[in-house]
Amino acid sequence: MAQPILEVRGIRKRFFATQALDGVTISLAPGSVHAVVGENGAGKSTLMNVIGGVYEPDEGDIILEGTKVSFRSPSDALGRGIGFVHQEIALCQHISVAENIFMPALNRPGFVDFQDIYKETKRLLADFEGHAHIDPRQKVRELGVSQQQVIEIVKALSVNCKVIIFDEPTAALTESETEVLFRIIGTLKAKGIGILYISHRLAEIYRIADTVTILRDGNLIETNAVSALDQVALVNRMVGRDLTDIYPAKAAPGTIGDAILTVKGLACKGVFKDVSFTLKQGEILGFAGLVGSGRTETARTICGLMRRTGGTVSLGGKELHIRDYRDAIREGIVYLTENRALEGLFLDLSISKNISVMDLGKVAKLSLIQAKAENGLAQRYVGEMLIKIASVGQKVNSLSGGNQQKVLISKLLSVAPKVIIMDEPTRGIDIGAKAQIYHLLRRLASEGIGVIMISSELPEVIGVCDRVAVMYEGSVCGVLEGGGVNERSIVQMACLSSEEQENHGRGVA
Ligand SMILES: Nc1ncnc2c1ncn2[C@@H]1O[C@H](COP(=O)(O)OP(=O)(O)OP(=O)(O)O)[C@@H](O)[C@H]1O
Ligand SMILES: [Mg+2]
Repeated sequence: MAQPILEVRGIRKRFFATQALDGVTISLAPGSVHAVVGENGAGKSTLMNVIGGVYEPDEGDIILEGTKVSFRSPSDALGRGIGFVHQEIALCQHISVAENIFMPALNRPGFVDFQDIYKETKRLLADFEGHAHIDPRQKVRELGVSQQQVIEIVKALSVNCKVIIFDEPTAALTESETEVLFRIIGTLKAKGIGILYISHRLAEIYRIADTVTILRDGNLIETNAVSALDQVALVNRMVGRDLTDIYPAKAAPGTIGDAILTVKGLACKGVFKDVSFTLKQGEILGFAGLVGSGRTETARTICGLMRRTGGTVSLGGKELHIRDYRDAIREGIVYLTENRALEGLFLDLSISKNISVMDLGKVAKLSLIQAKAENGLAQRYVGEMLIKIASVGQKVNSLSGGNQQKVLISKLLSVAPKVIIMDEPTRGIDIGAKAQIYHLLRRLASEGIGVIMISSELPEVIGVCDRVAVMYEGSVCGVLEGGGVNERSIVQMACLSSEEQENHGRGVA
């Protein structure tokens, strides 16, 4: 084998009580994609943060092209040719796209030719097919999540790197953007660049990675050629046990009750036009459809996060007049955002503060927050949801992605909602935690809470939901149930207008 472009040997890193990495060694060959997999909290991001100069390891060596190095900061690592696309979008929201991409250059002393960086940004964006239209002068906060993720990637590509780390790059990308990324990764490989790639989507690993390293609880379990491990073996090694029953049983016939939430002709001008559906007691209702079909916007409009311009929303037969999210919470409707880092959590605050924040009345006496009650509330959810933490006083940004998601769900449950709308609830979450969330949704539904799950991952929609509403270009084009909840029917409805479906032949199950 050629000399590795990068090696890490015996890396150990501890955060207070957590041994995040316990002697991990990996070796990255030039022109290859090396995947790192493991459950939430296994230590994947920590390892990447060590390689990317964010954390200094407690022990162990980093060897870049045969030479031992140590990085003082992320920009130091970048200067040595290590690019890093982080798990959570870390762009500055209030400055322009171009300024974000060229931040390292802008931070150096000297004059900056803005015309130049605008031109260069345009060129870089054009390389990421389908994004040439983004204006380099536009503020990042005006872009959607997937476009922001594209900017993160373009930023890493703008520097000539020897190694590029992608930590969950596709969690926020659309399907076509993911395809573009995979093509770009192919080009990087051909140039001899080494790629470290983290994803919970195992299908991606099998598609693009050459080698895979499995981490569990900070330990290296195995490094192998991807072709030498099948998916079942990989998952079992990740979780350290045989995983069965990922999906809970569907609602038994006869346990589905009356309508809880009825939406009729809902519209949001310029975004979607005519959304109607009912959510019944005891069921999990899925929302499928392409990214951009209006699922998220529908949820946000129901919850008062976007302005309703037509139609009605009724809860238990009573028509609601929701003007903002507070109204929605008061009525008992909560929304789990697909973008937890930007609008779901206060990353700088503790776990207990994050969980109690939606209903401080619960933990306050005479308007004073009682730390004991607050911690007790958090402790209860930590136990119920199996959140892996050192203490409830820990800041949320020190938790792994999957555990952050569980904190966010706890926060919503703390107000005892009647309806919970979850937007991509398992994005970036490992398979064990996914199974826990599916079982939790089923429990909530059986306790009488209305559950809506928006998801772009068909296997989970099919595995979890009792009925599935499919959206196409801003309206619900059909609701599938029973045997109709299958991949073929969903894809057909989601991708084709009703006339096209007619032409494509009836008789499809
Ligand atoms: N800054 C920090 N302070 C305290 N603990 C931390 C910090 N960063 C990580 N940890 C802990 O180290 C462990 C490993 O976390 P890490 O983020 O590396 O996991 P991961 O494998 O990337 O998980 P995920 O798939 O959820 O992103 C976790 O238990 C996490 O809570
Ligand atoms: Mg991570």
